[in-house]
Amino acid sequence: MNKITITTLKNMKLSGEKFTCLTAYDASFAIAEENAGVEVILVGDSLGMVVKGQASTLSVSMDDMVYHTANVSRVCRKSLIMSDLPFAADITKEQTFSNAARLISEGGAHMVKIEGGATMLESVEFLAQRGVAVCSHLGLLPQSVYKMGGYRIQGRTPEEADQILNDAIALEKAGADILLLECVPAELTARITASISVPVIGIGAGADCDAQVLVCYDMLGLTNGMPASFVKNFLAESHSIQDAFKAYVDQVKNGQFPASEHTFN
Ligand code: KIV
Repeated sequence: MNKITITTLKNMKLSGEKFTCLTAYDASFAIAEENAGVEVILVGDSLGMVVKGQASTLSVSMDDMVYHTANVSRVCRKSLIMSDLPFAADITKEQTFSNAARLISEGGAHMVKIEGGATMLESVEFLAQRGVAVCSHLGLLPQSVYKMGGYRIQGRTPEEADQILNDAIALEKAGADILLLECVPAELTARITASISVPVIGIGAGADCDAQVLVCYDMLGLTNGMPASFVKNFLAESHSIQDAFKAYVDQVKNGQFPASEHTFN
């Protein structure tokens, strides 16, 4: 069994093979996802909503993230474990580094995810220079939901789109190893994916990127309220949760998911 590393994912981008990412917050889901072939398991701060029942991700603490990351990393042998720096854990570059170090040394994460563009450049560079693998998250930033005025698609105007593209290029230069794009038009995703050499993971960002991610409960039809339009319920067409994870992996790899109804144009 070969462990998935940043090099594996970069080589997959180069060869044009799509990879998959799903969230997990506990050992049972993590091992089921790994067994289905999911390359990257994201311990997302979405746990604030789907595990803790909060209205947003803003109440998630570093202790929450370390606890859930350790539950996932304890059982995984192959998948790359990515863990979110939660709200206000990345104000200064030194604080960002010490919190990233907790996710890695106490939680067992292989990579940390940080929301934000230009404002995070210094921190991304600081972490990269100290050997921390970083995924930068652009587009819809759930930790800025009140500033953004809700969970809405980003990058619709030419100015907004250029800003996101410029941030992506600058983050790669600063040392980001992966970019995650949330809720942006498919055309912008295609431009960004072609403009940077690191892999791009999309959620609600169309098919023209290197990988897809979904919140595991959403893709099993367990959304509290209306699911977002970019979500597909894979359990509805499967016999078990394990089969649903396998269907997700197959459909991302063969280009069936996301389809046009899951895409913003
Ligand atoms: O926290 C999370 O689950 C995420 C995904 C929505 C990408 O950041």
